[in-house]
Amino acid sequence: MLEAVVARPKPCLVNLTPGRKYFWCRCGRSAKQPFCDGSHRGTAFEPLEFVAGSDAEVLLCGCKHTGAGPFCDGSHNNLPGGSPLDDPSSPANRGIPLITERDGARLTLNGGCYIIRPSLAVKSRRGGLQYSYLVTGALGALYQTQVSLLIEAGESPLVSFGSRDVILFVVAGRGSVAISGRSFAIAATDGVYVRPGEVMRFTAAGAEPLEVFALACPLGELEWPQVMPANFDARFPQRVVSVDVEQRTAMGTRYFQVLVDKRVGSGVITQFIGHVPLSKAAPHRHLYEEAIIVLSGEGCMWTEDRKAEVAAGDVIFLPRKQLHSLEATSADGIDVVGVICPGDNPSINYYD
Ligand code: FES
Repeated sequence: MLEAVVARPKPCLVNLTPGRKYFWCRCGRSAKQPFCDGSHRGTAFEPLEFVAGSDAEVLLCGCKHTGAGPFCDGSHNNLPGGSPLDDPSSPANRGIPLITERDGARLTLNGGCYIIRPSLAVKSRRGGLQYSYLVTGALGALYQTQVSLLIEAGESPLVSFGSRDVILFVVAGRGSVAISGRSFAIAATDGVYVRPGEVMRFTAAGAEPLEVFALACPLGELEWPQVMPANFDARFPQRVVSVDVEQRTAMGTRYFQVLVDKRVGSGVITQFIGHVPLSKAAPHRHLYEEAIIVLSGEGCMWTEDRKAEVAAGDVIFLPRKQLHSLEATSADGIDVVGVICPGDNPSINYYD
């Protein structure tokens, strides 16, 4: 059987008319990618007929290796040319200035992209809980709010994000989180999912403070309930997802593991943990908004004509469709954890 041709090792960004019928090229021979032009005749391939849904702007597969046709599922990243790298010392890149002057706790790049250092952010306190807003609507986010939480010892007050989906990432320490009356043990690098309307209380165990990043979607502020409700959503009993090397997905020279996603009930926001080896990716975009926490190592975040250094603890806010490239500059690369919205697959990217 003739193999499908890799028409292009990257997806095609197209604007579809909702409700209209389209024919996606499966064979890879069409000159009208990603759509069929009849070039499949004489082969065993037939185009895939589909009706466009409500999302007008979509990424259709150009490599013909997707498992979710007609849409890109990131498979292109592992094809030759599918995960291009860039030379940070190329003449063009050498001309891009390094941004070092902070606007408060932030280094600002192009298009609303910024890097914020939590240790420099405005801190607030409520009982035994210290918190800082890092990603907010006021700072340019459209889909998600991110807050750092620090529980030095013992119990935190009750806290919630109201009727929003919440994903937690434990950066340091260990202890437990009670979610609307149901208690879960947590430790560093765990991801945790909290359903809309549920209430949390953190308890730090051991000498080390418990440090957690909480991300809510849609945008919103922390709330301080007085009573722990008994409204735990038992339809979704598993809430804590831990790092498991068996669950890794390769993405060129990089890899990632999806932590919290629809498998534990989060249909809106998706969390992943990943590794970037010493390298710079070619500039690209995503159809999702992203908040990235740098867990270890050093690197550089690049946008059109600005770049800034990042280090462990920094949070990178990346608006939807913003051109960017994350470079790892330390020999062992960098580890990151990210949350994307809207979307459930961090490996779907596209190039100009
Ligand atoms: S372009 Fe084919 S999977 Fe992405």
